[in-house]
Amino acid sequence: MLECVNVRAFRGGTLVFDGLDLCIEQGRNTAIIGPNGSGKSTLLKLLSREIYPVHEPESRLLVYGRDRWNVEGLRSRLGIVSNDLQQEYGRHARGRDVILSGFYSSIDTWPHQQFSPEELSRAEGLMQSLGIAELGDRPFGRMSTGQQRRFLLGRALVHEPEALLLDEPTSGLDLGATFRYIETVRTLMRSGTQLILVTHHLHEIPPEVTRVVFLRAGHVVADGDKRELMTSARVSELFGCPVELVEANGFYQAVPA
Ligand SMILES: Nc1ncnc2c1ncn2[C@@H]1O[C@H](COP(=O)(O)OP(=O)(O)O)[C@@H](O)[C@H]1O
Ligand SMILES: [Mg+2]
Repeated sequence: MLECVNVRAFRGGTLVFDGLDLCIEQGRNTAIIGPNGSGKSTLLKLLSREIYPVHEPESRLLVYGRDRWNVEGLRSRLGIVSNDLQQEYGRHARGRDVILSGFYSSIDTWPHQQFSPEELSRAEGLMQSLGIAELGDRPFGRMSTGQQRRFLLGRALVHEPEALLLDEPTSGLDLGATFRYIETVRTLMRSGTQLILVTHHLHEIPPEVTRVVFLRAGHVVADGDKRELMTSARVSELFGCPVELVEANGFYQAVPA
């Protein structure tokens, strides 16, 4: 799904990746974990072509085997939910329009955009299945964080994407909203949607994730089977603080060691 070889990439003036090597197999549910500033969100933006790597002969970045993409074509194969996206929606965008905007990969809908009856009914169906049908007319700014996050998930799902790219999807949600969100994502995984999750919240990694990548300061410091890497010692080293990892029901939680 993703092949990075010797990738160099900047964010603003910051050199985030300087020689990043990473492959993510198609279909494998993968979590990319690391402390603040390690480059997780930047990696997702490279994948979705929101930012581009520095063009150099010795480096390549392939998504689904290709280095060139019409961005619309790529974004219809990927469903993206991030905090940045949530910030970009104005307070006034209506719930239904947040979902519909996914058809154009735009922020909110615009008067020139036309939606077919199938697209409108797909949006209604998604609102039903996400439990937000009654909020279709509500402005985004008058929803809870959890409700906003559900609408963004709906937006990400309009094209039935092959992969969901989630950036800290449950940050800011209370326990009930977190568990419902995770359950929704698990249902999607069971029906064949690949999950690429970037996070430092270990408890939001669903049991179906089998591979983890540890990212620190723009470098992959460990990469492999989740059960092997998710140990107190390794996670302590990754975050640079003493952590005890607790496992229950296939989930992990970090507590101070
Ligand atoms: N818009 C920006 N301009 C300049 N530097 C940025 C910008 N966004 C992020 N960075 C820097 O890029 C690095 C990686 O950021 P990011 O990918 O957001 O990390 P993470 O998601 O792991 O917290 C950090 O050092 C951050 O300060
Ligand atoms: Mg981030």
